Amino acid sequence: MKTPVIAPSILSADFSDLTKTFKMLNQSEAQWIHLDVMDGNFVPNISFGMPVIKSLRKLTTKVFDAHLMIEKPERYIHNFKLVGVDVLTVHYETQTHLNRTVDLIKKIGMKAGVALNPHTPVSLLKDIVAELDLILIMSVNPGYSGQQFIEHTYRKIAETKDLILAGNSKTLIEVDGGVNDTNASKLFTAGADILVAASYIFNHDNPLKAINNLKYF
Ligand code: DX5
Ligand code: ZN
Repeated sequence: MKTPVIAPSILSADFSDLTKTFKMLNQSEAQWIHLDVMDGNFVPNISFGMPVIKSLRKLTTKVFDAHLMIEKPERYIHNFKLVGVDVLTVHYETQTHLNRTVDLIKKIGMKAGVALNPHTPVSLLKDIVAELDLILIMSVNPGYSGQQFIEHTYRKIAETKDLILAGNSKTLIEVDGGVNDTNASKLFTAGADILVAASYIFNHDNPLKAINNLKYF
């Protein structure tokens, strides 16, 4: 049976004890780890960057899925490769030359993703979908964990799926924001391949069980 890939976002983890967090993640059925990089410009919040990711890389062999919520992310593509990122996602809203950025990410050996804010239409990706490894649909306004899921996400997933099928491409769909055990199965049925969750997992009494709740329904 096909199940979604779960990508816990460490944004809601205890930053004073990330070794413990990664021990839990290594034991879990999560295949990816979602790293939210924020610059205080593109989004109001500031999180962490390359030095932290470099240290975390020593703690796991799981896929590092970096979500860049930063202006001009093209300046740092090589740096993210050097610290061990596997999948690098930039926001559509930050890009003038998206093709060039996507090409560079792939050329230096990472998977390339593009994220869409809740107000950005999926149709804007029509002419580039065939080149993308991943499309990230934001189901909250980026910047913070613990926000309320936006319901129009289901429609956007369906539109993304249509675009991928029409382009005959293998692009994966990732959903990020407000994901929990009440919407996970519906998101997977709608076409999401990867589910990101921070607060649902890290505020749960049993994070291992929370990860399973998102994966097996
Ligand atoms: C929001 C981040 C998300 C966030 C998800 O800007 O991109 O990855 O950590 O947090 P939850 O799952 O709590 O909505
Ligand atoms: Zn994210």
